[in-house]
Amino acid sequence: GETHFPYRFENVEKKAQEVLPKEAFDYIQSGAGREETLSNNRTSLEQVKIVPRMLQNVGNIDLSVKLFGNTYKQPVFLAPIGMQKLAHPEAELATVRAAKKHGVPMIVSTASTFSLEEIAKEVPDHPLWYQIYWNERHPDVSINMAVRAEQAGYDAIVVTVDTVLIGWRERDLENQFSPLKAGYGLANFKNDEAFMSHLDGTDDDTIVRGIVENFAHPTLNWKDIEKIKKATGLPVIVKGILDPEDARFALEHGVDGIIVSNHGGRQLDGVIGSAEALPTIVEEINGQIPVLFDGGIRRGADVVKALALGADAVLVGRPFMYGLAIDGENGVSNVLEHLLSDLHVSAGLAGSPDVRTLKALKTRK
Ligand code: FNR
Repeated sequence: GETHFPYRFENVEKKAQEVLPKEAFDYIQSGAGREETLSNNRTSLEQVKIVPRMLQNVGNIDLSVKLFGNTYKQPVFLAPIGMQKLAHPEAELATVRAAKKHGVPMIVSTASTFSLEEIAKEVPDHPLWYQIYWNERHPDVSINMAVRAEQAGYDAIVVTVDTVLIGWRERDLENQFSPLKAGYGLANFKNDEAFMSHLDGTDDDTIVRGIVENFAHPTLNWKDIEKIKKATGLPVIVKGILDPEDARFALEHGVDGIIVSNHGGRQLDGVIGSAEALPTIVEEINGQIPVLFDGGIRRGADVVKALALGADAVLVGRPFMYGLAIDGENGVSNVLEHLLSDLHVSAGLAGSPDVRTLKALKTRK
């Protein structure tokens, strides 16, 4: 008989596992080490209890959110995920078309399979942010990528700061799998004049080597963030903050926003769950700049919880990659449709017709 796209996240994940080669599924699904952080993301969200409001008139629900002077239709963003060709040949182009259909902004990764310009061209007028992995040996490459993103019409730059070294991911090590080495993430490098000027060849093998050898950036520091900030007129958002003191440093260095994140449990294992880290950081930032959140968002109520804890918006990662694997653009579209419909129902049942009232909800542990 006719089958519908699964509603339960667990079934979406299972279906993706069926269609993907083992090493690709493992790469997407797994976390670092014994996956404590991956599990902390889920349990820290599960421990949050929403205290809903009644009789609030939720007849007209509008969850649009204003960030850095731009209005976004949903408080939900697609997290930066590199090398989406791992899941589907149309990769980021399929993802971004589905994102546009649902008014969900996409954060494009440095390691995308299609270039930041190709992705922007696919969806004129749809909001995009660009995520930077700092190139410490050749900072001009990262600066040039930020400038390219600004020229291509991106709204903001996200700098990921929890990847100074690549996490110890045992399943990838056992599978001997490195999608970067397999060449899934070249596009933004291949057409970057600054990057190419540092290579002594133009073939893909040389490009891949140039990327892999420069991926770690152990000396990344706040001065580098200031350099990125000066390179364009775009807001700069730091992704991967878990300690309130680092949130304060971000403020002191003129950062425009932060993302509370542990990289979906893929970096240091044993790290605090994102939802456990969020409240202290929200308290420290005290409304001065936007605070975004990711890690374990799977259902509408998870978004309600993150906003009730003080986040301005959330990012969702693995679920859309599973949708992409299952059915390309259609699959991502189904995942987003289900998540956003669920969010709409959940916000209404919490008595919160907008982001302001979601953020005003009380929670208990
Ligand atoms: C990621 N993440 C990530 N982050 C980033 O800043 N740049 C990147 O290129 C990637 N690549 C990437 C690949 C894959 C397969 C995954 C699963 C994750 C981290 C991502 O942006 C986000 O922080 C987490 O995925 C959020 O957690 P959930 O929603 O997957 O639980």
